[in-house]
Amino acid sequence: MKQLLFLLAVLVGSTVSAFANSTDKTDYARPLTIPFPANAPYDPGIATLGKMLFFDPRLSGAQNISCASCHNPSFGWETPVETAIGAANEPLGRHAPTALNGAWGGPFFWDGRAATLEEQAAGPITAEVEMNATFEEVITRLSQVSEYKAWFTKLFPGKGITRDTILQAIATYERTVVSGWSPFDRWVEGDETAIPDNAKRGFDLFVGEAGCAECHSGWNFSDNDFHDIGLGTEDVGREALETGNIRMRHAFKTPGLRNIALRAPFMHAGQLPDLETVILHYATGGIQRESLSPLMITFEPNQRDLDDLVAFMESLTESETILPTPILPAN
Ligand code: HEC
Ligand code: HEC
Repeated sequence: MKQLLFLLAVLVGSTVSAFANSTDKTDYARPLTIPFPANAPYDPGIATLGKMLFFDPRLSGAQNISCASCHNPSFGWETPVETAIGAANEPLGRHAPTALNGAWGGPFFWDGRAATLEEQAAGPITAEVEMNATFEEVITRLSQVSEYKAWFTKLFPGKGITRDTILQAIATYERTVVSGWSPFDRWVEGDETAIPDNAKRGFDLFVGEAGCAECHSGWNFSDNDFHDIGLGTEDVGREALETGNIRMRHAFKTPGLRNIALRAPFMHAGQLPDLETVILHYATGGIQRESLSPLMITFEPNQRDLDDLVAFMESLTESETILPTPILPAN
């Protein structure tokens, strides 16, 4: 069937390069299932509970901030500020990355310091600058909410509300946070009318001359690896975990690009305001320094190239997701 589609593409499409594209684009096909780890398999009840916790500010010390405050679904699961702002209204050192497609995304944080989503979620709850709570107070507080108590008792028999069950519920929910079907996906599936010609040309540049796909690979457009892309920054990034590995200085995890048009500003400290500025940064090759990734190349985009690359990235935006937010139990 696939071969037939390729043949059709050749017959209908006018150029040989249309054939080359149709082979490349299949590398970006959506997976059909979400990978859940064996020790935390999908369970609809646990995922629903995790969703409630994700949106519940009672997980923070002053009950004033939830995971969703910084990972806001309306902004591609990020916040539209350069660096995130914590419970004490103070800006953090880094930009909130998207919570989308975490099931495919480890290790977590810009520097990859958490191996799993469970481990990751413990960070913000207890970090003073983020949610500033202790598990002791969160467990006491949730235990006083009869509906939470009932849910935890039913879903985690013999365990109830503990640090681990809270984290497992949140992580299970996060694995269900998957970017929806985008025009790009429909094009990959064979609908040639799903995206405009300039977005197709932008895709060619992305996987070709502009070198983006060296790091932004696979359906989520990330190799989940760490690179210094030559941005001005004081942040040592991944080097904090790999002392002495010079390539890891100023290296950060490659973000996935799904719903990227909703996720400005960009980069680990929100340094770049829009997608065109991002492309222009790459075109210059970034700051030349010892740690700069050898995969960084220079190129000379004209205005059409810039527009086409942006059109391609915009085609990665999901079309019509409706996210019902949970009603949280009062007591
Ligand atoms: C005050 C804002 C803020 C809050 C609240 C917050 N986060 Fe984050 N989140 C961030 C920032 C900033 C980072 C990146 C920090 C770093 O890399 O050092 C991050 C990173 C992450 C990541 C890693 C994404 C990746 O691809 O590596 C996940 C997942 C995540 N947060 C989930 C959560 C969950 C779950 C909660 C609630 C328990 C939460 N966050 C609460 C700001 C916040
Ligand atoms: C050497 C690997 C590499 C190459 C090549 C590369 N990227 Fe990136 N990309 C990254 C990394 C790593 C980051 C995060 C860097 C940081 O914050 O310091 C990033 C960040 C981004 C972001 C911002 C994402 C966000 O959540 O803030 C966009 C958009 C982007 N890249 C698009 C592109 C485009 C378009 C190209 C080609 C012109 C490209 N990238 C080439 C590795 C790469």
